[in-house]
Amino acid sequence: MTHLSTSDNGADRVEHRWATVSVVILVLLVVVATFAALYHGAIPQSRVETVDPRTLHLGGEFIESNLGSAVEPDGAVTVRAIGQQYSFTPSCIVVPTDTPVTFRATSADVVHGFLIDGTNINLMLVPGYVSSLGARFDTPGERLMPCHEFCSVGHEGMWGRIKIVEKAAFARMAAERRRPSCVE
Ligand code: CUA
Repeated sequence: MTHLSTSDNGADRVEHRWATVSVVILVLLVVVATFAALYHGAIPQSRVETVDPRTLHLGGEFIESNLGSAVEPDGAVTVRAIGQQYSFTPSCIVVPTDTPVTFRATSADVVHGFLIDGTNINLMLVPGYVSSLGARFDTPGERLMPCHEFCSVGHEGMWGRIKIVEKAAFARMAAERRRPSCVE
């Protein structure tokens, strides 16, 4: 009898210890999530922007003549793009180095992915919603922009390009064209 009760106590102790470990892990996760939300402003629910995917081509910020890179009054750049089966518009995006760039994109049909190879820029384009992300590019170059959400039979062939050019070269392009892009 004594023997059995000792082993029972041992199991109890181990169980308590594991319970403590899991509570500590839970508390840590809550602390990390709270820190991310407050310090990094990661509160997506408060920033949802909607747009009607059926009327993108008729008016508003995603009308075709407004797509591409726009220079804001403060010198920052806003890039607007649309994903649709099976391409991006514009298919080649041009951005300057050393400038705050905001990507604003949406989908005209199904869910697509918007990813710039070799960077941490990665968005989902969901019909009805505007996806937005700020970025900054240090070095000029060219990168691929593959769709990374399966969007039906043409998915494999859906990709665009992004050209990062020197700030001065971009300013020259912006002087010639209202919405610079590198579509040939
Ligand atoms: Cu669009 Cu996959």
